[in-house]
Amino acid sequence: MKYAAVTDRLAHLGGAKWEMHLRAKRMQAAGLPLIALTIGEPDVPTPPELIASAVQAMQAGRTGYSNGRGEAALVQALAARYTARRGRVITPDQVLCLPGTQTTLYTILAGLVGEGDEVLVGDPMYATYEGVISASGARMVSVPLHPEHGFQMQAADVAARITPASRVLFLNSPHNPTGAVLTRSDLAALAEVAVRHDLWIVCDEVYEDLVFDGVTFVSPLDDPALADRVIVASSISKSHAAPGFRSGWCVGPSEFTARVLPLAEMMLFGNQPFIADMTAQAVSAPSPVAAGMASRFAARAALMHRMLDGVAGLAVNRPQAGMFALVDVRGTGLSGRAFAEGLLETKAVAVMPGGSFGAALDGWLRVSLTAPDDQITEACTRMIAYAGELT
Ligand SMILES: Cc1ncc(COP(=O)(O)O)c(C=O)c1O
Repeated sequence: MKYAAVTDRLAHLGGAKWEMHLRAKRMQAAGLPLIALTIGEPDVPTPPELIASAVQAMQAGRTGYSNGRGEAALVQALAARYTARRGRVITPDQVLCLPGTQTTLYTILAGLVGEGDEVLVGDPMYATYEGVISASGARMVSVPLHPEHGFQMQAADVAARITPASRVLFLNSPHNPTGAVLTRSDLAALAEVAVRHDLWIVCDEVYEDLVFDGVTFVSPLDDPALADRVIVASSISKSHAAPGFRSGWCVGPSEFTARVLPLAEMMLFGNQPFIADMTAQAVSAPSPVAAGMASRFAARAALMHRMLDGVAGLAVNRPQAGMFALVDVRGTGLSGRAFAEGLLETKAVAVMPGGSFGAALDGWLRVSLTAPDDQITEACTRMIAYAGELT
């Protein structure tokens, strides 16, 4: 039978990148004890008051059909939250609610680009971006993010890759896997390129609430001059330790949300009202769990830096936000993949090869900071031992 070209474009972009994680899961299922630092799930349960809110809403009969944009109370709550956070008025018609940041990014790109268009995105990048861009039919154009610039995207690197087909500058701040947070001046320089070449700016801000102490988060949505070209996406997955609820949204120009609304309606026919009620409650107050996660993850990144940086050919990039630290293993002579495989097989520590997040990280590992401190300490000890055996 024949299938649409999208299935070919995505054939190698699904689970293949997570091979190391899946291998670790199989080993654990077979009863082998190991320290798993491959993925970043929040290290606390969803706050009980939010579970109670969803349950109450279900019991109150909030289980009927919704509408394509989202339940009125949630759309209002998000407009109020973004108005307060961004310092300019965001109206409900600028909001579209979708199941998680992932679906939201898919919808945004499907609404903005297609075959023949180009999307500029930083390399390294979150593992699904290549797929989400390919799904739209557009071509991904990688913009290298350099460790010597703290993995911040440089406007000159974007400008050098602009072609007549460039349509979208796809940002992620705070960034996964590097933990970099774009500064106001980085953003101003990037915005200047976007305006000069009439690009959309799409920014995945799912880690906004996990910014470490002393770091300032800045969004392109702050800048009224960019109002007609910026779309931001986020969810309660990280901020409220609630990824399974699949509750996300985007905020952009009202013309954009009006144009994309039918796409959301064709896909979903609306979200679940009981999840919308819970999310409205969640986004209307500071998260009860985000600050604790941010301080634990920052402390674990610092611990890894203290233990590993400059030892046995290893170097640690300290994140400014998020759930991961990067370890540069090039000094050991191994690629990230070979190091991760050896570490798993000989020391029972599972980490992701950096290459799963883009060719720029081929010589790196991505290590999740969501495991308890004693496991991070033990994993570092085993990494030093493994690296020591190589040199
Ligand atoms: C950068 C980034 N964007 C999006 C997602 C997916 O978020 P959601 O659960 O809201 O779909 C993740 C999950 O790890 C992520 O790291």
